[in-house]
Amino acid sequence: MNNVRHEEAKLSAAHLQKAFSHAIPQTAVILGSGLGDFTKIIKVLESISYGDIPHFPQSSVAGHKGKLTIAEVADGKNVLIMEGRFHYYEGYTPQEVTFPIAVFKELGIKQLIVSNAAGGCNPSFTAGDIMIIDDHINLTGNHPLIGKNDDAAGPRFLDQTAPYSPRLIALAESLAAESGVTPKKGTYVKMTGPTYETRAEIKMVQSYGADSVGMSTVYEVIMANYFGMEVLGISCITNMATGLAKTHHNHAAVVDVANSVSEKFSKWVKNIVVAL
Ligand code: 6GU
Repeated sequence: MNNVRHEEAKLSAAHLQKAFSHAIPQTAVILGSGLGDFTKIIKVLESISYGDIPHFPQSSVAGHKGKLTIAEVADGKNVLIMEGRFHYYEGYTPQEVTFPIAVFKELGIKQLIVSNAAGGCNPSFTAGDIMIIDDHINLTGNHPLIGKNDDAAGPRFLDQTAPYSPRLIALAESLAAESGVTPKKGTYVKMTGPTYETRAEIKMVQSYGADSVGMSTVYEVIMANYFGMEVLGISCITNMATGLAKTHHNHAAVVDVANSVSEKFSKWVKNIVVAL
């Protein structure tokens, strides 16, 4: 089986191009858990539910919406937003998780900004921190590019020296102070979930060099790299990871902390998109 569903992605993209009345922007943003405030500080122009997009997977997690939105961040500067994403732990295959990225490629997206809620495994972090992702570890035991490769679409053996664009990282850093954020920078590890990690698992990923841990992002980033998009990844450290946290984890607390930083996070992302 082909590793990318190019034909279906083309059909989804063609539908979106017809259904949206605005031109599709060149920049896309994937909003993570609780970071939905972004759409409150920009001008939403129009949305299409995932359910109305042929071949698109459907979202199931509480607190995750399921729609693609075009919004204006500044005069004449629009962005495409994925409100709600697909997780491996929900039962989607890595190929389904990354299907939207294949559609983005067909739509001509050049830059992808991905956000997530994550646990901090770097002991110098605290809940409420924001971390620029400058590298990742795929600890899921699966991979979105497994399958027959179409060499015309992307390379069989994709280089991963810089999955996160140094240009976009520098841009994000240059706009941090005026946006009211003081971001950390580090390595994100993706575990499958849906359990939070054990204490021993967190010790393991710390020894691997991980600074934050979560259950998303990496598959989408790999696929965006495959298609030659520039990627910026940002983790909202909603809690410290197991063994570093003083309390047990729960999803509601994760969403609460994500919501509490959502405003400054959103302002920062807006300033980044405007500057692109
Ligand atoms: Cl501690 N672990 C994982 N895997 N995902 C998270 C998290 C922790 N905190 C927020 N999301």
